[in-house]
Amino acid sequence: MNPKTQISPSLLSLPEDQVKEWVKKIDGKVDSFHIDVMDNQFVPNFTLERFAPPFVAQLKTKSQKHVHLMTEIPSKYYNTYFEAGASVIIFHEEAVKNPTLEVRAIQKFGIRAGVSIKPNTPASVLDDYLEQVDFVLVMTVEPGFGGQSFMSEQLDKVKELRAKRPGLDIGVDGGINPETAKLCLKAGANILIAGNAIFNAHDPMAALEKFNRLKKE
Ligand code: DX5
Ligand code: ZN
Repeated sequence: MNPKTQISPSLLSLPEDQVKEWVKKIDGKVDSFHIDVMDNQFVPNFTLERFAPPFVAQLKTKSQKHVHLMTEIPSKYYNTYFEAGASVIIFHEEAVKNPTLEVRAIQKFGIRAGVSIKPNTPASVLDDYLEQVDFVLVMTVEPGFGGQSFMSEQLDKVKELRAKRPGLDIGVDGGINPETAKLCLKAGANILIAGNAIFNAHDPMAALEKFNRLKKE
């Protein structure tokens, strides 16, 4: 059995002026908020102003804050996002030379360390430090933008990781809707990150409810 299913709405899909309002509205009803930090170098998009640490710090939430760093030199940001209240900081495997050191640097703050892999990165690159990491985020689209289509071939990586570490938190990010979420849960993922499928739904609260129902299945 997978660890507990968690729902993590991605704030990237919200218009900038609605983030605070939505966070307030669904705080406590979701397990965490997923916050995408992009530097326009690791990915061709920039959110370092929009989701700058002082802004994230202002979001005083009961639900956890998970920071997904899509940046070169992720270690530049660990301290400030820790201070902004992140309970998980996720770096990209492709951006660093020594992932084990990155994991330790994040865990030193007393929070959880996550690593993310892009679609073309095999899960086996994590073998050396899979026992040390707290969270693996499998990208199910090319990182950079919300609203893309789910890449089902990524499910094999989820299966492989779940087989290797039964208790690991495994997240999936990109193109997750209630249907693709089911495939991910079946493959072994337990943290469902969703932007577009919640916030651009005709009725976001109903969409969230659909996701929450998956927790009971
Ligand atoms: C993409 C981001 C995702 C994004 C997901 O690079 O990491 O978190 O917000 O958006 P959807 O759910 O719309 O694919
Ligand atoms: Zn993300």
